[in-house]
Amino acid sequence: MKKFRLLFAVLFVFSVFLTACNSNNESSGTGDNGKETSSKLEIFSWWTGAGEEDGLLALIDLFEKKYPEIEVENAAVAGGAGTNAKAVLASRMQGDDPPSTFQVHGGEELNASWVAAGKMEPLNDLYEKEGWNDKFPQDLIDMVSVDGNIYSVPVNIHRSNVLWYNKKIFEENGLSVPTTFDEFFDVAEQLKEKGITPLALGDKEPWTATHVFENILLAKLGPENYGKLWTGELSFTDNRVVEAAEIFKEMLNYINDDHSSRNWQDASQLVANGEAAMNIMGDWAKGYFVNDLQLKVNEDFGYVPSPETDGYFMVVTDTFGLPKGVKNPDDVKKFLSVLGSVEGQDVFNPLKGSIPARIDADKSKYDEYGQDAMADFSSSTLAPSLAHGSAAPEGFLTRVNQAINIFVTQKDVDQFIDALETAAQDL
Ligand code: BGC
Repeated sequence: MKKFRLLFAVLFVFSVFLTACNSNNESSGTGDNGKETSSKLEIFSWWTGAGEEDGLLALIDLFEKKYPEIEVENAAVAGGAGTNAKAVLASRMQGDDPPSTFQVHGGEELNASWVAAGKMEPLNDLYEKEGWNDKFPQDLIDMVSVDGNIYSVPVNIHRSNVLWYNKKIFEENGLSVPTTFDEFFDVAEQLKEKGITPLALGDKEPWTATHVFENILLAKLGPENYGKLWTGELSFTDNRVVEAAEIFKEMLNYINDDHSSRNWQDASQLVANGEAAMNIMGDWAKGYFVNDLQLKVNEDFGYVPSPETDGYFMVVTDTFGLPKGVKNPDDVKKFLSVLGSVEGQDVFNPLKGSIPARIDADKSKYDEYGQDAMADFSSSTLAPSLAHGSAAPEGFLTRVNQAINIFVTQKDVDQFIDALETAAQDL
């Protein structure tokens, strides 16, 4: 009998210990419907480190002030443009183990991957409740909708077609910033003669090369024909696509030798340091220049649309949604409400380098670059980015990234066009 009492006592103490451990790991709160929720709010993204995480941390901070009872887990997986995060996410989604909410680009990355697979909850009620239907540009709502259902909330709008340049290099060498490809090659030649790397590239992760190439495609095709590439209405064997590939090939004569060992931050750093004159990158580079390198907009670095894309705006929008089957949907909706609020967007975007997705954000919170990007967004023709998941399904993008990776070393235009055309058969 004594032995049994001892055994019960041990088991009791052990179960109390386990419960305590469990409640250390998980928060509990009361959902909108009055039910107990008992899971951390796991926010999955690829915003880690230099130039990437400041906006996210500020947003989490704001959320925690509003909802101190909800425990947040920042589950970011490093790697530019989601290089690693997207693979981790795919295996979790396939295993029915979704994060509470995750970063996903509006457009095909959301719609063809997760909505089509029935993995996302519609958020029309949340949009209705928050009065969001006329607070986000219709173009953005369309990018996150399928058949009238809205599946995620955009936190930002990044511009991908930006050429960043080191002001001092241009001033000291009496050069004008190029706006056409002819001007670009003219300037690049002069810089090369002076021993300055004209264009910084960091294609350790191949998406950065796709990023440059898509902006050449946009320049040569214009938004309408560029859009036809993803619907199969325009072939990759079109002369203008071939011309874009030729231009990209020529650009590769002006990049840094160590491009394949650098990531996007390392490449941007070359421009910041004055080791390279220009790079073509999305405006997360501005977040990196300003937050991490303490550079000043329009003093240390300048910006223009990438060659021949003035009047066009290559859109990259980061959005978050509600996966089906999460334990804490009410907490997720609270996070989405903060992320979609004016306050949330204005805490996040000035740090991230992007502009707010909402049309009624406080413009005074943004620097000169942000103000220019906002004006350009409303006056430009928009085009969805391929490199950042919006234009075409993930499987196609993976094949383009592989083709471009080979192209950067082999520089074989015919082989590259063939590879694109073959990949396009699955579109
Ligand atoms: C994302 C940005 C991010 C960039 C670099 C893009 O795909 O939309 O938010 O800063 O990748 O990682």
